[in-house]
Amino acid sequence: MDTFTITADGKEIEGRPGQTVLQVCQDANVSIPTLCHHPALKPYGGCRLCVVEIEGMRGLPAACTTPATAGMVVHTHTDLLHRARRTILELLLANGDHDCLVCNANGSCELQTLVYEHEIEHRPEGEPFTRRPIDDSNAMIRRDLNKCVLCSRCVRACMDHQVNGVIDVAARGSESVIATFNDMPLGDSECVFCGECVQVCPTGALLEKRAQFASQPWALRRVRTTCTYCGVGCQLELNVRGNSVVKVTSSHELPGPNGGSLCVKGRFASDFIGHPDRLTHPLIRQNGKLREATWDEALGHIASKLSEIRSEHGPDSIAFFSSARATNEENYLLNKLARAVVGTNNIDHCARL
Ligand code: FES
Repeated sequence: MDTFTITADGKEIEGRPGQTVLQVCQDANVSIPTLCHHPALKPYGGCRLCVVEIEGMRGLPAACTTPATAGMVVHTHTDLLHRARRTILELLLANGDHDCLVCNANGSCELQTLVYEHEIEHRPEGEPFTRRPIDDSNAMIRRDLNKCVLCSRCVRACMDHQVNGVIDVAARGSESVIATFNDMPLGDSECVFCGECVQVCPTGALLEKRAQFASQPWALRRVRTTCTYCGVGCQLELNVRGNSVVKVTSSHELPGPNGGSLCVKGRFASDFIGHPDRLTHPLIRQNGKLREATWDEALGHIASKLSEIRSEHGPDSIAFFSSARATNEENYLLNKLARAVVGTNNIDHCARL
């Protein structure tokens, strides 16, 4: 593939056709602050934090939407840029409820990181912003638009990844707000609660309800695993504190068929993992009552009962029903057990649970 060279902060770096200035710089480890940009979403150019100076170009173009071209000379960290970025951050801080002390995103908030990196010490004084009611209308997602920075990542994720288009930027100028159709609460909208919007939100505006007050972000350990709900094999990360799953996330950086997206079950329905009613031992019914057994005892019991039924009524009196929660290998083995050991073709499989 053809490549070309640009100069960023005095360093020659290589770009590929179709890349933006931001992508070329990021590939070469030249850091440019971003907020509305998300590598898995289309460029938007809304926050202007990624502004750069490009020799021969007027104004301060956004690196995330400016195509890189051969011979460009880019400056990413100048006094002018620093002042511009600080002003943007101060305006965002002044126009919202960004009280990190009581925010569940404290420690994982991208706005917080940018404010820290730009050495802003106080929330600027100014006109009080218009406080909006918190949307608590559904069981899974808490929406606090007072912490929204209008980056539109949620809008793009809902439209481009999930193809739902449930939310959009409504109104104009300082009245702009992320809203559902007719500004209905999320719980009454067409939202399917996949949580894609929560995953890409850079602040605490969108939160998983069950994760609120369950753990601070830095106390969570991420354990990569495969979703057990159906046979697609989505890759996800269990966010674990101690032995409890606090929430489930995914990432576009994980290999797998889901590209970082999850459905409502994969993301929100993991309570069964630590549920007290979950079976942890095999049970054998004896005299009408279930009692705990060891795996050896339970498997021996099943084998002797299957042999008994087979010799009394023939192999086709037995049927096997397999599960999408099992792996391909496990399903293959059950197929072998049914056909080769018991001698029946009575085997089926649930495509989804
Ligand atoms: Fe480029 Fe927001 S990151 S405009």
